[in-house]
Amino acid sequence: MKTKDEIRKPDGKLGVLIPGIGGAVSTTFLAGVESVRQGLSLPIGSLSQMGTIRLGKRFEYRIPLIKDFVPLANLDDLVFGGWDVFPDNGFQAAIQAGVLKREDLDPVQSFLEDLSPWPAVFNQAYVKNLHGSNVKPQTSYPELVEALKRDIEDFKRINDLSHCIMIWCASTEVYLKPSEVHASLDNFKKGLENNDPNISPSMIYAYVALSSGIPYINGAPNLTVDTPAMIELANQTRTAVAGKDLKTGQTLMKTILAPGIKARALGLSGWYSTNILGNRDGLVLDDKDSYKTKKESKLSVLDTILQPDVYPDLYGNYYHKVAIDYYPPRGDSKEGWDCVDIFGWLGYPMQIKIDFLCRDSILAAPIVLDLILFTDLAQRARMHGIQEWLSFYFKSPQCAANLYPEHDLFIQSMKLKNTLRYLMGEEQITHLGLDYYYPVQ
Ligand SMILES: NC(=O)c1ccc[n+]([C@@H]2O[C@H](COP(=O)([O-])OP(=O)(O)OC[C@H]3O[C@@H](n4cnc5c(N)ncnc54)[C@H](O)[C@@H]3O)[C@@H](O)[C@H]2O)c1
Repeated sequence: MKTKDEIRKPDGKLGVLIPGIGGAVSTTFLAGVESVRQGLSLPIGSLSQMGTIRLGKRFEYRIPLIKDFVPLANLDDLVFGGWDVFPDNGFQAAIQAGVLKREDLDPVQSFLEDLSPWPAVFNQAYVKNLHGSNVKPQTSYPELVEALKRDIEDFKRINDLSHCIMIWCASTEVYLKPSEVHASLDNFKKGLENNDPNISPSMIYAYVALSSGIPYINGAPNLTVDTPAMIELANQTRTAVAGKDLKTGQTLMKTILAPGIKARALGLSGWYSTNILGNRDGLVLDDKDSYKTKKESKLSVLDTILQPDVYPDLYGNYYHKVAIDYYPPRGDSKEGWDCVDIFGWLGYPMQIKIDFLCRDSILAAPIVLDLILFTDLAQRARMHGIQEWLSFYFKSPQCAANLYPEHDLFIQSMKLKNTLRYLMGEEQITHLGLDYYYPVQ
């Protein structure tokens, strides 16, 4: 790991490879980046672009923008390419996604039209509700690996790129459990030779990325880089991985509210969450196997924040239910309801209701940007393997096998900022603050 002056500079262009480049999240992200580059919009929701970081003592008033503090790639240096199951170019895909208004898409039309997806590595067994035609003809896994490598080489050559990063913004695949083939890199390589059905398309993309030293970020809840085989590969090629499942609407709210309830030692007897959404992601999640992958990701959050084993009287017996329903009229404008049953002094019950009328892709786009820029920074700082400091962005943060994940948004935020301070040789901020009042050893 390298710090401050040893971190490789973000010189030249950075290639951003996106499986699922024609989706709602991708096109909203791409249109937004171009709009920001043209000076038409602000990158709202992006901590890397709009957030600040406090340095030193409070009376010093050193609060630079994060992008001025750490050497991040410049937005103008990002070059995009990717794969999708549908052949539509970025503009057609953005219209179809129905997230952004025509008046916001028109100024970036030619940029989006130039983004035509390469044929995807796709198998309907892993995403049952999608029927697209832009799919690679090869069926054997070794041939698919070679085909993806060729796409990446061509992209690098045409755009004169030395560095790339890959972020999965494609559909949620069916629920897969880690099995023998994921237990070691050797097993995985043998599995590729045998077209093992426990290897999904996302794992083939990730394998190609990591074997080429390209960092891989998992924006969906699929089992992909969170296996011993992939971690072994990432460590072997000294490549960064981060995941999984972007923390946007309801789970974002949950990880904001639950730490507050716990901080005040209030009890919880139940948390009922339900969502309706009508975009293509909703259609994919309408299949029970993709739904299971998403649901597992959403359920894990509360237990790790509330620690029922440590607080049996407050959280030992709460009921947590999560439901997601596909409801086409809403499109990308999701509605998430939470009914939270808490109890206070002498056990008296109280209720909190949340009705979050959010826009999924509007919340996801800025975190796609941050994840690309921070993971690239990690790679340039030679921080290979799991990037736990980026847990802030994920519903199911990936962490070392002997740790439990950290879900509390405020701890995640502190971890992220302290990592940046550490990388830049600045003092960690503990918020102790006693030294403002007393001599402290
Ligand atoms: N929007 C959010 O707030 C949010 C939050 C967390 C996670 N996610 C995840 O991000 C992903 C994208 O969400 P979205 O709303 O853009 O969905 P979407 O359905 O609009 O886009 C997904 C795209 O991936 C493509 N695709 C599917 N399989 C592919 C493959 N094997 N190779 C290449 N392309 C493939 C589809 O054709 C589609 O265009 C989903 O997995 C979703 O669960 C989204």
